[in-house]
Amino acid sequence: MSTKHVVIYITGGIAVYKAAQLVREFVKAGAQVKVAMTDAAQTFVSPQTFAVLTKNPVYTDFSANQQREFVSHIELADWTDIAVVVPATANIIAKMALGIADTFVSTALLATAAPKYVIPAMNEKMWQNAATKRNLATLKNDGIAVMEPAEGFLAEGYSGKGRMPEPLDIFKWINNLSAEKQDLAGRKVLISAGPTVEPIDPVRYLSNHSSGKMGYALANAAAKRGAEVTLVSGPTRLTKPAGVKFIQIQAAAELQETMEKNFSKSDIVIMAAAVSDYHVDQVAPQKIKKNGQDLELHLVSNPDILAGLGQIKKGQILVGFAAETENLLANGNKKLQKKNLDLLVLNDVSRTDIGFNAEDNEVRLLRARREPRLIAKSSKDQIANQIFDEILNLA
Ligand SMILES: Cc1cc2nc3c(=O)[nH]c(=O)nc-3n(C[C@H](O)[C@H](O)[C@H](O)COP(=O)(O)O)c2cc1C
Repeated sequence: MSTKHVVIYITGGIAVYKAAQLVREFVKAGAQVKVAMTDAAQTFVSPQTFAVLTKNPVYTDFSANQQREFVSHIELADWTDIAVVVPATANIIAKMALGIADTFVSTALLATAAPKYVIPAMNEKMWQNAATKRNLATLKNDGIAVMEPAEGFLAEGYSGKGRMPEPLDIFKWINNLSAEKQDLAGRKVLISAGPTVEPIDPVRYLSNHSSGKMGYALANAAAKRGAEVTLVSGPTRLTKPAGVKFIQIQAAAELQETMEKNFSKSDIVIMAAAVSDYHVDQVAPQKIKKNGQDLELHLVSNPDILAGLGQIKKGQILVGFAAETENLLANGNKKLQKKNLDLLVLNDVSRTDIGFNAEDNEVRLLRARREPRLIAKSSKDQIANQIFDEILNLA
């Protein structure tokens, strides 16, 4: 928790006073905490309480604050590793479900891409209302974690469901859900990513549109889950993932040599690089001058690196990627078998909203003698984690 930036959004329920204790739990655990409050929340407890506990000014509206953030809702959203809404009123739950951005709190929440944790607290009748149930189902469907309220004595003077759970229980719930799994600890993972670049002459080359995002997401995910990661990458614009051994390559031949050299000491090998199928037979030693004539290049087939690794495999889990535009499953299954793979990640590159260069992807995971598993459209980071979940199922 000590490295985390936690933003606590406090909305106007009677349980606001208990949020102070939760803020203390996060501060005690070493997190950096910032608080934002709705107008209704401020009628229950003064922002000063939270400013003192967090040693940070409290966000109450859009005006430039003491930190001189002029677009403060976006700055706060970008700073966030974890967003917690506590106590979450029926009102903020409805706004989050609909994407309403009419106050600082609702706008910053809409702008936040980090994981969100919602702790509803309200009167039992509001909790039971069909609209609240519908809105909570929408939040869960959007990937937001919702904590069940406790049953017990309500502020209204009777017992029922809707009570905010105890701050320490909330802290433990969030801590458990947000902890990075270390289930790849001790595994050596070798990943190739990005395009290869086949030279024509000293200034020109043949390549492809691979951004490297999927391979880098895999390297990041594996490193976070405790693996010892080697990333072999063609040229990309991406930042090298932290805590990863990085090897830069250019041509397919160099990629092949590097992968084969590192293969025997790896447990899991993933070929996510988009390897050129051909290279230029005779690379010109000097820049080819234009002379008004057409130019013919003789292209020679590159070796199938993945199939080669499949042949020398001894206990490694070998994962390939396939980009197909037609007969997806039939072509994918053929590759799985022919290349002796344990898992094939199948991309439909006929779609422009996923795959090459896109932020999101939608893939099918193919395994021998199993039904293909569809991973619905989601971020490449999420897909990467699902691929490792599947790999761990294989092992
Ligand atoms: C004394 C009092 C207690 C309230 N307690 C709750 C509550 O526990 N949960 C809730 O959803 N709304 C509660 N409300 C109603 C909210 O304050 C109201 O819906 C408000 O518009 C919420 O605004 P916000 O979501 O922007 O904070 C309470 C109102 C009052 C006056």
